[in-house]
Parts: sequence; structure tokens; C-alpha cells
Amino acid sequence: MASTTFLTFVCYGILSISLCVNALSVNYYDHTCPNLEATITKIVKKAMTNDKTVAAALLRMHFHDCFVRGCDASVLLNSTANNKAEKDGAVNISLHAFYVIDMVKKELEALCPGVVSCADILALVARDAVTLSGGPTWNVPKGRLDGRISIAGEALQLPAPVFNISQLQQSFSQRGLSLDDLVALSGGHTLGFAHCSSFQNRIHNFAKTQDIDPSMQQSFAAKLKNICPLHNKVKNAGATLDSTTSIFDNAYFKLLLQGQSILTSDQALLTNAKTKALVTRYASSQEEFYKAFAYSMIKMSSILGSGKEVRNDCRVVN
Ligand code: HEM
Ligand SMILES: *[C@@H]1O[C@H](CO)[C@@H](O)[C@H](O)[C@H]1NC(C)=O
Ligand SMILES: *[C@@H]1O[C@H](CO)[C@@H](O)[C@H](O)[C@H]1NC(C)=O
Ligand SMILES: *[C@@H]1O[C@H](CO)[C@@H](O)[C@H](O)[C@H]1NC(C)=O
Repeated sequence: MASTTFLTFVCYGILSISLCVNALSVNYYDHTCPNLEATITKIVKKAMTNDKTVAAALLRMHFHDCFVRGCDASVLLNSTANNKAEKDGAVNISLHAFYVIDMVKKELEALCPGVVSCADILALVARDAVTLSGGPTWNVPKGRLDGRISIAGEALQLPAPVFNISQLQQSFSQRGLSLDDLVALSGGHTLGFAHCSSFQNRIHNFAKTQDIDPSMQQSFAAKLKNICPLHNKVKNAGATLDSTTSIFDNAYFKLLLQGQSILTSDQALLTNAKTKALVTRYASSQEEFYKAFAYSMIKMSSILGSGKEVRNDCRVVN
């Protein structure tokens, strides 16, 4: 298990200027909110029992948060009269289960008011969602602060499902993440669902002379075409991202090698020697995947935001 140590949030007061070194610590709330993790886990567990789609939603929410403005809970802010927020941007399709974050925040405000940031809540619920789906566990470094800015257009900074390997690599490296992180974290697609619009490029008019992406297994593509006809009218039509959609396993990598991935960005992992070797490795060893995923999640969830406060309500700035 990854056991990276992180420094605590340190501030030096020099004259009237204070210089803060923002870093995270596993022990951040030991004295201020010792029971927070058990409290959060209990709520996530209950929500997952009531709705099987919650775990995937919570994992993806943390990813979207960290890739825009760092992990600062900008993804949770509501739009206001004069600002359209990230969650209402064009790329918000299928982000849901915000109510789980509200439930956690409410309970934590009763337990230790004004202490736990919404950004830390996102990192913790994402970890719990993975673990409670049968995946690995890890210690979550904490101490993030919540941002005050959320802009719909900035959701366009997220990697798109039609990205090729160089575009994915660039998107990740801009955030300090490597090709190893890209492959491990793409394994997050072992949970959840994609709407037809996210993969229609692969099954209709793929290229001038090819209707279907030739790298897809043809019978698999035919099945997807059935669910997602060209002029699809069914509102929530789509496909699960792997065959065991609520279990955190390595089936995603096995299916990828068989031409049964859903997104162009998944398939792209086979177009580079290094990433292809990692896909093969994780397809043959779930344990290797778990180790790599936990390590890369800690990296992703440590992308620095410019947060300034602990929000009282995760949907509005203080
Ligand atoms: C590598 C770049 C990535 C791209 C291009 C990408 C793109 C997408 C797209 C298009 C969907 C389907 C949305 C829909 O149609 O409803 C999706 C779903 C999902 N993604 Fe990713 N993703 C990426 C990386 C990640 C990472 C790093 C994670 C987490 C570690 C993640 C976790 C998820 C989960 C759990 C879902 C299912 C959501 C649900 O069922 O509610 N993705 N992703
Ligand atoms: C935020 O938006 C949601 C959905 O539009 C709404 O139900 C909720 O009341 C809003 N919360 C706040 C605090 O504005
Ligand atoms: C996504 O954005 C659209 C368009 O702005 C909005 O109507 C929809 O409510 C948003 N969905 C979520 C889950 O916030
Ligand atoms: C990926 O797409 C970009 C933009 O369309 C293009 O410039 C680049 O050559 C492509 N890279 C690969 C490896 O296909």
C-alpha cells in the first residue's frame, strides 16, 4: 500500500506577512475531528446500499474536482444569479449523487462544526466508494481547503472521451500525473456507466469508409449500436464501462484487451507501448492494479487547489 508521508499545513508568521506551505497530512483531523472517517464511511455505505450507482458517481466527482482548479471542491458549488458553475457546464453529463456529500457535510457539521473541508470530504468518499466496492484501501492525506470559484467553461479542461494517447498524456502531465497514473486511474472505469453520446464516435460514422471503430470487437460494437442507434431518442441510454459495473476489479483491463472498451480514451491505452504493457499487467494481476490505483489516487487527490476556507455548505461559498 502506498505510504507516502505528507507534511502538515505549515504557516510561518514573518512580521505581518504569513507564508503558508500547503501540504497534506494523513493525521490532519486527529485532534479536531477524530471520528470523521468512521462517520463518512457509515454514510457512504448506506447510500451505496440504497443506490448501486452512487459509488461510481462519487469516484468520478473527485476526479472532476481535482482536474479543474485542483482538489478544492469547486465541482460542488451551485451556480448563482451571475455565475454558471462547473457542475452546470457542458461536460457535466451524469455527474450525480451530490446529495451524499450534503448528508456527510451535515453530519460532520454536527460532529465538529466548521472543521472539515468539502474538498477533503470528496477525497474520503471517493476512497470509501472504491473500498466498499471491493477495491483497495489507502490512507487519505487531508488538509485541503475549499475554493471560492467555479466556472462552467473550465469543465472543458477535463480530458475528453475522444482523446488519443498524446492528448491524454498532455492532460495528465499538466497536472503532474504520468503515463503510469493515466493507466492506473483509467481503471476507475471498472465502475459505472457511459451515455451513448460519450462513445457514439466509435459506432457511427467512425471514419469515411468505416462505420465502426475497427479496434472494437465487432459483435460488441453491434450490441452497442443496438442500444445506441444513430438518432437515439432514449434519454438515459448507454452502456456500463465494464461487465461488473458495481465491483471494483480488473475486468476493465481484461475487456480492454479483448476490444471491449467503451471510450476512445480507454482504447487509446493500447496505442502506446508503455501504456499497453501496463494494461496487460493489470489484466493479469488485480493486486498490481490495486497497488497502482491506490498510489495514483493519492497523487491525483493531492493536486493543489487555491482553496481559502472550510465551507459551511458545500454548495455555496462562505
Ligand atoms: C483518462 C481520462 C478520462 C476520460 C476521457 C474519462 C471520460 C469519462 C466519460 C466520458 C464517462 C461517461 C460519462 C457519461 O457518459 O455519463 C466517464 C465515466 C466515469 N469515469 Fe471517467 N474519464 C477519465 C478518467 C477517469 C478517472 C481518472 C476516474 C477516476 C479515478 C474516472 C472515473 C469514472 C467513473 C467512476 C465513471 C462512471 C460514472 C458514473 O457511472 O456515474 N474517469 N468517464
Ligand atoms: C443547489 O442547487 C440544487 C439543485 O439545483 C438545489 O436543490 C439546492 O437547493 C441548491 N442549494 C443551495 C444551497 O443553493
Ligand atoms: C448540466 O448542465 C445542464 C446545462 O447547463 C443543466 O441543465 C443540468 O442540470 C446540469 N446537470 C447537473 C447534474 O448539474
Ligand atoms: C492526437 O490528436 C492530435 C489532435 O488532433 C494530433 O495532433 C496528434 O497527432 C494525435 N496523436 C496521435 C498519437 O494520434
